[in-house]
Amino acid sequence: MSYKVAIVGATGEVGRAFLKVLEERNFPISELYLFASERSEGKTLTFKGESLKVQQLPSNPPAVDIALFSAGNSVSKEFAPLFVREGAIVIDNSSAFRLSPDVPLVVPEVNPDDVKEHMGIIANPNCSTIQMVVALWPIYKKVGIKAIVVSTYQSVSGAGSEAIEELKRQTGELLQNREITKSVFPRRIAMNVFPQVDSFDENLYTREELKMLFETRKIFHDPNIRVSATCVRVPVFYGHSEAINIHLGDNLSPNDAKELLSKAPSVIVADALDYPTPIDVAGKDEVFVGRIRRDMVFDPGLSMWVVADNIRKGAATNAVQIAELLHSLALV
Ligand SMILES: NC(=O)c1ccc[n+]([C@@H]2O[C@H](COP(=O)([O-])OP(=O)(O)OC[C@H]3O[C@@H](n4cnc5c(N)ncnc54)[C@H](OP(=O)(O)O)[C@@H]3O)[C@@H](O)[C@H]2O)c1
Repeated sequence: MSYKVAIVGATGEVGRAFLKVLEERNFPISELYLFASERSEGKTLTFKGESLKVQQLPSNPPAVDIALFSAGNSVSKEFAPLFVREGAIVIDNSSAFRLSPDVPLVVPEVNPDDVKEHMGIIANPNCSTIQMVVALWPIYKKVGIKAIVVSTYQSVSGAGSEAIEELKRQTGELLQNREITKSVFPRRIAMNVFPQVDSFDENLYTREELKMLFETRKIFHDPNIRVSATCVRVPVFYGHSEAINIHLGDNLSPNDAKELLSKAPSVIVADALDYPTPIDVAGKDEVFVGRIRRDMVFDPGLSMWVVADNIRKGAATNAVQIAELLHSLALV
C-alpha cells in the first residue's frame, strides 16, 4: 500500500524537514504534491533524487490520502477542511485545531491510540510540549506527576525561516557596528535572550506557555496536572532546551528515573556530567535527557534537562510518525 501525500508549506523550515524525514524513513508514497504560497510557485524541491515543482496552494485541492500541513494557523483553518472534504487525513502542525475536542493531539510514544478517534484532522502538538511529554511520560506512568515547572530555551528556527535570517542578519550588523534592524522578533535576538514566545494572554502568560499547560493535559488525559512554564527565546539556530522540575506522585530516585528513561522509546539519557546541548541534537529525531537529579523544592521530585531538535521531533518527525501509525493501524 502506498499513499498520495501533500505537503502544505513545503518550502518552509518544517516543510523541508518533512521531505527529508519522509525520504529517510521511506514512507510509502505513490504521489507527492508540494504546496506553498504564490511566492514559491515554480520553485523546485528534491525528493529521493527527483526534482518536484512547488505549486500555489489551490482552493480546490487534489484528492490525497494524507496532507501534512505546516503553513501557519490561518492556512490550516481555511484549507485543512477542504483537503478533508476531498478524503484526506490532515496532520496539522499549527495550533489551529490542537485543543478542539474532536481533534486528537498525538505524540506516538505517549498516546498513539488517540489517532483512532480522528474525524479527518489530527494535530501535532507544539514543539516544546512534544519533547517535554516524551521525556516525562515514562515517569508519569510509573509514579504519577502532580506538577511541572518548566523554563524553555527556544531556538529561533521555532519561528520559521525568516527568524533564522533575523538572527544571522542582526549578528552581522552587531559585529560590523551597524544599526540593528528588527522585523520578526519583539526584541533584539542577537547576543540576547527574551522571555516571550508568541503573544501575551490576559493572564500575563504567553500563548506558548499556555500551550505547554493545556496540550500536556490533553495528551496525558489528565485535566488536573499543573504546568507552569516560562518560555524564553535564545540566539540558537536549531534545538530547544528545557529545564524541568517535577512534583512526583510517589518516590522515584534519580537512578531509577535514569534507568526508566534509558529504556523509553525515542529517549536518550546522557551520563551525569555529559549533558546534551542544542548543537549536539540538531538533525536528530530523539529527545535527549541529562542532569537528572533530586529536586530541591518538590518532595518527592526530580529536576532534569531536556533537549531536542524542534524541527525534527518537535514538528516533522512527530507528524511523519503519526502518518506511520495510521499506516500500521490501517486507518488510511
Ligand atoms: N518551526 C518549528 O519549530 C515549528 C514546530 C512546530 C510547528 N510549527 C508550525 O509549522 C508551521 C510552519 O512553520 P515553519 O517554521 O516551517 O515556517 P516558515 O519557515 O516560515 O514556512 C512557512 C511555510 O508556509 C508557507 N505559507 C505561508 N503562507 C502561505 C499561504 N497563504 N498559502 C500557502 N502556503 C503558505 C510558506 O510558503 P512560501 O515559502 O511560499 O512563503 C512556507 O512554505 C507554523 O504553523 C508553525 O507554528 C513550527
